[in-house]
Amino acid sequence: MQPDDTVMPGIFVTFEGGDGAGKSTQIQQVKTWFEDRGFTVLVTREPGGTDLGLQLRHLVQNGPDDVDPRTEALLYAADRAYHVATVIRPALEAGYVVLGDRYVDSSVAYQGAARNLGVEEIRTLSTWATRALMPTLTFLLDLPPEVGARRRNGVPDRLERESTDFHERVRHEYLRLADEQADRIVVIDAVGTPAEVYSEIRGVLEERFANLSRPEPVTAKVCEEEATLFSSLGGVIL
Ligand code: TYD
Repeated sequence: MQPDDTVMPGIFVTFEGGDGAGKSTQIQQVKTWFEDRGFTVLVTREPGGTDLGLQLRHLVQNGPDDVDPRTEALLYAADRAYHVATVIRPALEAGYVVLGDRYVDSSVAYQGAARNLGVEEIRTLSTWATRALMPTLTFLLDLPPEVGARRRNGVPDRLERESTDFHERVRHEYLRLADEQADRIVVIDAVGTPAEVYSEIRGVLEERFANLSRPEPVTAKVCEEEATLFSSLGGVIL
């Protein structure tokens, strides 16, 4: 499939990394960074950024242990297809900054590499599901799996229960992707304190987006449409 060449006024930034990398804390800081500059920000996540996605999330995370890898990959892809069609793409078209907690790279790393389904096959599946919508920028919060596991609270879900070797394969694939797509994926050392990690992220934001101004135009009609969209997305804003 050809890359999606529709020009949309919004900015799509995703956050990737192993379990316990601290993505949610950083996303909140990045949200504030954009809001301080006048942007409207939508924070969302996968799996589970929509009502349908929440049901898929439940199935994939708490389903029976015999959910096979292909079923798992299709559940994530279904979640993503619906999420892009109903939340991400409309928000980008309306000029929002969309901050995504996980996206295509998660499927490539977890299902493609760690589950051994094939990186290219999973990439093709996600490309099809999203009609080739890719983020402008991706932060990869990198840390050794054992550090992530120590930070985790609560009962581990189906993927968190996987072996250290599984999580090492996830990390290795993420780093390979970052190497392959260095223009899009920025590796951030996530071992430090949240403030240290954010300071690295802020440096990248300042470099990449410093000269951007809030997307135009903001006519009364657009404001009205934005308000409607915002409320229609209300159920999924985190
Ligand atoms: P979640 O509870 O959202 O935690 P976090 O993102 O903070 O780690 O867990 C999502 C889990 O789903 C995580 O273990 C990674 C996994 N996952 C995949 O395996 N493939 C995917 O495509 C996505 C989006 C997530």
